[in-house]
Order: sequence, then C-alpha cells, then structure tokens
Amino acid sequence: MTASRLDRYSTVAIVLHWLIAAAIVVQILLAWRMNDLHTPLGFALTQLHKSVGITILFLSLVRLGWRLANPPPPMMGLTGWERALAHITHWGFYVIMIGMPLTGWIMVSASRIAIPTLLYGVIPWPHVPGIAELAPAAKGAWRGFGHESHEWLAYGAYLLIGLHVAGALKHQLFDHDQPVLARMAPGAKPGRWFDPRLLIIAAGGLIVLALGQFLRPPLPASAPVAPTAHDEMEMDEAPAAKAAVVTPPVSAAAPESPTAAPAAPQPLSHWTVASGSTLGFATTWGGQAIEGRFDRWTADISFSPDQLAKSKVSVSIDIASIKTGDAQRDDSLPSADWFDAATHPKATFIADRFEKTGEDRYVAKGKLTLRGVTKPLSLPFRLKIDGDKARMSGVTTLDRTAFGVGQGEWQATDQIPAGVKVSVKLTATRG
Ligand code: HEM
Ligand code: HEM
Repeated sequence: MTASRLDRYSTVAIVLHWLIAAAIVVQILLAWRMNDLHTPLGFALTQLHKSVGITILFLSLVRLGWRLANPPPPMMGLTGWERALAHITHWGFYVIMIGMPLTGWIMVSASRIAIPTLLYGVIPWPHVPGIAELAPAAKGAWRGFGHESHEWLAYGAYLLIGLHVAGALKHQLFDHDQPVLARMAPGAKPGRWFDPRLLIIAAGGLIVLALGQFLRPPLPASAPVAPTAHDEMEMDEAPAAKAAVVTPPVSAAAPESPTAAPAAPQPLSHWTVASGSTLGFATTWGGQAIEGRFDRWTADISFSPDQLAKSKVSVSIDIASIKTGDAQRDDSLPSADWFDAATHPKATFIADRFEKTGEDRYVAKGKLTLRGVTKPLSLPFRLKIDGDKARMSGVTTLDRTAFGVGQGEWQATDQIPAGVKVSVKLTATRG
C-alpha cells in the first residue's frame, strides 16, 4: 500500500522537515566538538553553533506556523499507543526545535564574557533584551537556567531522535501496510528494505554526520587586517616589533609647550608623534599567534639624549580602540573579563627614568597603569635622531595576569600565556 498525495505531508512541511533534521544533527555534532570554548577552534565552533541554532529557530517557527495552518494528514493504520507516541514525539520535537535555540540564546546573553553574536560572521545578532544588562546575581541565575535547560533539552533531543527514527524504521522495514515513511518521503513503499528513498535518507544522513564531524569553521583572525602603511623605519627589532606595524593610528601626540631648560647646551626637546606610528602586542591563543594593536593613543614626549635626567614620556592608550582582527573578539576584550574598559577606559605608561644602554639604545623605566593596577615597567628601545626627525622602536614583555587582564577561566595560562609582548614603533618630529 502506498500513500496517496492526501496521505502525505505538504511539500513545504517535507522540505522543512529534512532541512531542520539535517541542521539539528549537524548542530549536535558541532556542540560535542566545541567542548573547550577557550581554544580558537572551540570559539569558532561555538560561533557556528550559535549561527546554525538561530537558523533552526527561524525555520522551526515557520514550520510551526505552517503546521498550524495546514494540519498534517490523519494517521491511518496505527494503533492507539503508536499514535500517542508519535504525537508526543512530534510535539516534543517542537519544544526542542524552539526551546533549544531560546535557551542557548539566554545562556549566551547571560554569559560573563560579553561575546557578541555575529551570525555566520556577518549578521549582528542581539542578546536577549534585558538579560545582558542585569546585575551579576540575576544574570547568573539566567545563565544557570539557560545552561541547565539547554542540557536537559539536549538529552530530550537524543531520546526523541532515537524513538522517532526507530519508529520510522520499524514501520518502513517491518510493516507492509503502514506507509509512515511515505508521509515524509513520498513514494517510499512500506516493507521494503532497499527502498530508494530509504537509501537516499541513509546517504544524506552520512553526509550530514560527516559535515557535523569534520566541518572546520574559519578560526578567528590572528591579526587586524591592514596593509603595512609604514615600513621605512627598519631598525632590526625583535619580530614582535615588526608584527606590530599595521595601520596609522588615528591619533598623534598633542605636546604641551616645552618645559624650559635654560642652562642646558641643548634644550630638552618636545616631540610630536607622526601618523603611521603603532602600538601593538603579540600573544598566542591555543598555539595560534595573535597580533593586536591599539588604534587610539597619545604620547607626550620630552626627550633629549643628553638630558636623560629631565626626559619624560607619558603615553595614554584608549582601551576600546583594541583591534585583533576578529570583530567578535574585539568587542569582548573591553569587557570586565579582560580590560574592563567601562571602569578603566585608559591605560597609561609614564616613564621618567632613562638610561643609555648602547649606541642608539636606551631603556625607559616607569609605571604602567592598566585595568586600575599600577606596576613598574621597563621598555628597552632604539632611537635614531636625524635632525628634527626621530625614529624609535621598543619591545617589552608584561605579565597580563599581574594586571588582571583575563578574569575567571581566562586567568589560566594554558591557552593564553601570561607574558604578552608589547611593541611600539614610532616616528616623531621635534617641536
Ligand atoms: C533529527 C531530527 C528530526 C526531527 C527534529 C524530526 C522532527 C519531526 C517532526 C516534528 C515531525 C512531525 C511532522 C511535522 O510537524 O512537520 C516528523 C515527522 C516525521 N519524521 Fe522526522 N524528524 C527528524 C528526523 C527524522 C529522520 C532521520 C527520519 C527517518 C528516518 C524521520 C522520519 C519522519 C517521518 C516518517 C515522519 C512522519 C511521521 C508521521 O507523521 O506519520 N525524521 N519529524
Ligand atoms: C536546535 C538548536 C540547538 C541544538 C540542537 C543545540 C544543541 C546543543 C548541545 C547538544 C549542546 C551540548 C550540551 C551539553 O552536553 O552540555 C549545546 C551546547 C551549547 N549550545 Fe546549543 N544547541 C542549539 C542552539 C543553540 C543556540 C541558538 C545557541 C546560542 C545562541 C547555543 C549555544 C550553546 C552553547 C554556548 C553551548 C555550550 C554550553 C556549555 O558551556 O557547556 N545553542 N547545544
């Protein structure tokens, strides 16, 4: 017995069924693979999981609307308990298809780390309104709720998929008079083991499993995309200094009027930082090199090689201008788990002790204030002064954990080491 057109689901319902079924299987496999969110791959898989999940939400809402407007064909030939089980499974699936994305969305919106969602890396997706702004305790409660229910719904999904597929196969393989599969796979003949529809579903299933298991989303970029704008100044620095050469910063120094040094043979010079100067940093994440820079910073420089005792440099860095090449990561770095830019919008480095360490080589000693913590910092640098033009480059390493950059799980240094290489490369003109 085959199903007539009236005994099967509408084409829209059929297309949505197989599309959503495939997406859910991929989605579950992605979730199993993304177990460590702190690795670059885990991060990328999570972003993809969020994107696929929100897609499933939309498709499922359309499907629910369609089903309510177009009731499914009556279930003929099934016993009472089979019908009841089919009903429970189908409605249970709707709870999962809509509940899983909603609980996932709640969990992400209530996350301690404010990682924004860009669907497929392109479309900005908001947090659940109201949740991200809640006080920590209330946010924690939502996070707990989202996490627990996402997990329980996942168990429910495993159970329902098992029952549903077993039911479909039982009727297809063992019952000759109940065209159940034909309702979703038109033309399938019950009682056939080698029905072409069944083979197509099995082959499609394998492809979907392989997709979920091996799909490798693009990892977050390892550096801001920008051409090398400024390379005339090669000073054979450490590699990190080269890595930091990216775009011209938006700002340059706004020097104060020079402090008078009347008796000195050469007055203390003031320097204005030229565009093209860079303030960069380099670290690694799960072994992958990450380069970043701050786009907005100013430096107030009073420096003369023969007036080291009077020289002074203050640098002020706008934390929110951080760029590492990945929009979602860049949006999360100013959050409380990292730089806490809302409370500490600026980092400052004030150097007031300078030593000459060799030909064109110096070390600037001072204090770095970052995330509200002040610690001594030395910056060895090279400097070449040619008339009224100076070229400087320096590299130093600082311990991010000493400043609290990376809270909670990000304090661990297995994925992101404590030592961060900071490099500055600038040209400046006298005056
Ligand atoms: C894993 C993801 C799956 C989900 C979420 C899912 C969900 C559903 C839902 C909700 C229905 C009710 C019809 C509707 O409201 O549109 C349905 C019907 C059906 N599904 Fe699935 N399904 C999945 C996988 C499968 C697989 C792998 C098969 C086949 C081996 C299958 C075979 C069927 C059949 C034959 C029906 C029609 C049953 C009937 O109403 O008589 N489904 N499915
Ligand atoms: C139908 C759609 C979805 C399905 C089937 C699904 C499935 C899963 C599964 C099976 C897990 C692993 C659960 C565990 O064992 O702990 C998981 C975890 C997760 N899901 Fe989903 N998910 C869906 C939608 C979403 C959406 C829309 C988001 C976010 C917008 C999301 C965010 C997450 C996150 C962040 C985790 C990791 C939780 C953790 O920290 O352990 N999911 N998901």
